[in-house]
Amino acid sequence: MANSKTRSSSRSSSSLDWAFPALETRTAAGKVAADVVFVSQDSSKKPAVPAKHPYAALIERLRGVEGFSARVGSTQVVRFGGAGEAENVVFVGLGQPSELTDEKVRQAAAALWSRLGAEKMASAALHFNELTRMGQVRALAEGIVLSCYGFNKYKKVADPIHATRKVVFIAADRARQSHIQEELDRALAVGEAVNIARDWSNEPSNFGTPEYYAAEAQKLARRYGLKCRVISESEARREKMGLYLAVGQGSEREGKIVVLEYNPKPAGKGGRKGRTLAFVGKGITFDSGGISIKPALKMEEMKHDMTGAATLLGATLLAARMGVQNRIVTILAFTENMPDGTAIQPGNVVRARNGKTVEIINTDAEGRLILADVLDFAHDFKPDAIIDAATLTGAVQIALGKHCCAVLGNDDALIQSLMGAGSANHERMWQLPMWDEYFEDLKSDTADMKNSANDGSGGTIRGAIFMHQFIRKGMKWAHLDIAAVANAMGHVPYFPKKGASGMYVRTLAQFAAEF
Ligand code: BES
Ligand code: MN
Ligand code: ZN
Repeated sequence: MANSKTRSSSRSSSSLDWAFPALETRTAAGKVAADVVFVSQDSSKKPAVPAKHPYAALIERLRGVEGFSARVGSTQVVRFGGAGEAENVVFVGLGQPSELTDEKVRQAAAALWSRLGAEKMASAALHFNELTRMGQVRALAEGIVLSCYGFNKYKKVADPIHATRKVVFIAADRARQSHIQEELDRALAVGEAVNIARDWSNEPSNFGTPEYYAAEAQKLARRYGLKCRVISESEARREKMGLYLAVGQGSEREGKIVVLEYNPKPAGKGGRKGRTLAFVGKGITFDSGGISIKPALKMEEMKHDMTGAATLLGATLLAARMGVQNRIVTILAFTENMPDGTAIQPGNVVRARNGKTVEIINTDAEGRLILADVLDFAHDFKPDAIIDAATLTGAVQIALGKHCCAVLGNDDALIQSLMGAGSANHERMWQLPMWDEYFEDLKSDTADMKNSANDGSGGTIRGAIFMHQFIRKGMKWAHLDIAAVANAMGHVPYFPKKGASGMYVRTLAQFAAEF
C-alpha cells in the first residue's frame, strides 16, 4: 500500500488528483513544524490540565487567557519562534470527555487539518494522550484523509496542495505503535477509495460517459485484483434487459454494465466460509429527465446521478484492500437519460428482464427502471443478499433532509446491520416503510405496473416498492436512496464544500466485512 500520493502533472484520468500527507507513527516526535496537543474541558467547561502531560504547564498558563478554548473543533496556535523542539504548538479542542464521540474526534481532526494548512505548517506531531481508544485513533486519521480532496483535472491552475506533507502520530510505546500503524494504513486505503468515488461522481458527463466508467473500472480492477466484465448494449439485449435499454435509447452514447467480482483469498484453515454479497449501483451518467425533461435550475447537478455506482465501486475497492472474507459481486449500470426522437415516451410499455411489463408514466423516474433489470440480473450470481445504492428520488431530501440516507428493504435484520455499520461511521441511515398498500399507487391500466404515480406523495417509498417487484421470493434485499447526501455536504467538516461527498463508501465496506 502506498503511503503517500503526490499529484501527478498528467491530466490522465487515472492519475490521483489529490495528495495525502505521509502518515507515520513514532515514539518520539523528532523535528516537526508543529506539535499538536488535544485538550478537553473540565466540569466548568474550561480547558482541563491533564496530569503528566508534556504541555500541562503551558495549558495551565493559557487556561486563563481570554479566547483559549477546548470546544470541539476549536484550534489555537502558540508560536515560540525560537529553535525549540517544535516552533509552534497547535491546541485542538475536544469538549467534555463524557460527551466525546468518534465523530467529534473526526471533526476535530478536520478542523486541525484546515488550521495546519492555513498556517502553512510543513509537518506536525500529534500528541493524543487524551485519546486512548484505537477507534479514536482511527477517527483522527480518517478526519485527516477524508479532508484531503480536490477535483482539479479541468483547471489550468490547480488549487494549491495542502502545506502539511507529514503527520507523525506519537505512540506511547512500541506495542501501540504497531496498532497505530495499522490504523494509518487503513486510513490511507479509506482515503483512496473515497476519493476515487468522489472523482467518479464529479466527472462531467461529456467526459464521464458509460464507456469512460467501464474503462476506468477495468483499470481499477487490475490494480485492486478484481475480476471485471463489461456488458455492452447488444449483450444487454440478449439478456432481455428491456427497461435498462429503454432508458438509454434516447442517448447517442452506448450504455455499459460493469460487473466486478471480488473473490477473497481464504484466511487459512478454520476461517469461516464467506458469503456472497451483491452490490447494485445506479449509474445514470446524466439525467436530463428525458422527454419528461427537468427544469434548467440545477440540472448540471445531474452529472452526479451515477453516485450510487461510484459509492459501490469505492466500497468494493476498500473491501478488497481490507481483505474482507466475503465474496462481492458489484454490478454498476451505466447509461444516459436523454430526450431525442428515439427516446422513450410517457405511456410507452416496456418489458423487463423478468418478463413483467411496465407503463412508463414519467421518463424522469428512470433510476428504478435500470435498477429493476440489474437487480433481476444480480440474482444470477446467487448472492445471500443484494444491496443497491442510488440517487433515486428528490423526495428523500424532503423526507429526511441531508443528515442521513433512506434505507428500505424486505429484511429487517439486514437493514439493522446496515444501519449499525452506518452509525459506526457516522454515515447514518433511516428506515422508511415498505407496506404493500403503497403498490396500489403503481397499478397500471395497461401494463403490470407503472413507474410513477405523478402525484408527488411518498416518492422515496414508491421508488423502492417498484424495485421490490423485481426481487425474487426469498432473496434478501435493501435499497439505499442517497440522493440527498451524494453531493454538496458543506456542513460536514471533512467532506468537500462542493461536489461529491463520498459518503457511505466506508459504511458499505464495513458492512461487507461484517456480513
Ligand atoms: N436522479 C433523480 C433524483 C434526484 C433528484 C437526485 C435531485 C438528486 C437530486 C431521479 O431520477 C428523478 O428524477 N426522480 C424523480 C422521480 C419522479 C419523477 C417520480 C424525482 O425525484 O422527482
Ligand atoms: Mn430522473
Ligand atoms: Zn435519476
